[in-house]
Amino acid sequence: MPSKREIIDDVAKYLRHMQNNGSDGVAIDPAIFDAQTAKPEQRRGKSEPTASADRAANLREIAGRIDQCRDCPLGETRNKTVPGTGCLDPDIMFIGEGPGRDEDLQGLPFVGRSGKILDRLIKRMGYSRDQVFIGNIVKCRATEDYQMKKDRAPSTEEMGACIHYLVEQISQVRPKVIVTLGNTALEGLFGFRGITKRRGKWLEYEGIPAMPTYHPSFLLRGGGDQGKRFWEVWEDMLMVFDQLGKQPPESS
Ligand code: URA
Repeated sequence: MPSKREIIDDVAKYLRHMQNNGSDGVAIDPAIFDAQTAKPEQRRGKSEPTASADRAANLREIAGRIDQCRDCPLGETRNKTVPGTGCLDPDIMFIGEGPGRDEDLQGLPFVGRSGKILDRLIKRMGYSRDQVFIGNIVKCRATEDYQMKKDRAPSTEEMGACIHYLVEQISQVRPKVIVTLGNTALEGLFGFRGITKRRGKWLEYEGIPAMPTYHPSFLLRGGGDQGKRFWEVWEDMLMVFDQLGKQPPESS
């Protein structure tokens, strides 16, 4: 777990980087600021019913708002929104970057090539897709020049406009552990990049242990589930099992 000093240094580095790249401010949704600064008992407060039927209804309501959302330009070009799928109270919530081509067409997260790698990881861990939750930092496909041809990472502004949906989803899903996949997920949730240095080291999000690891598309470029990077991800997942107080399945 990084010290407060390391976190402050990282934030300062990130802001300097943004400034050097021409940004003169960081867009923070007031709701996120309130969520981050509220005391834990306030965070769990009034708007968060505990009954799972209520939380499932809240998740559907969030997905409905995502579906209507036009808060950034991605809302103008997408085919389908991709709010995320899975169960309530899972051991693990995986968080990726945002939909690609296949996800945009189907409205489901991680159904393209990198999704196949994520599926294999989930299976190897002894879970099925509906026993975890899979979400993303942004809910609409980001493409170069908004042409819907070549995928790109979402911009800081696009992430800033969308992140409150994920914040809300996490508070309804209530995973035991969060696994962030790649740099965009790390940046979207924690505000800093550097996945190579950060992977395999615990962070914490709203009191939930969070493990940063590589994005499946990075694994695809490095030998898929036979490559060295996959085994590095697997090492990170062993730490997740440890945190959950569980053993990985025998066959893995
Ligand atoms: N990559 C992501 O980060 N998320 C998806 O849903 C699909 C591909």
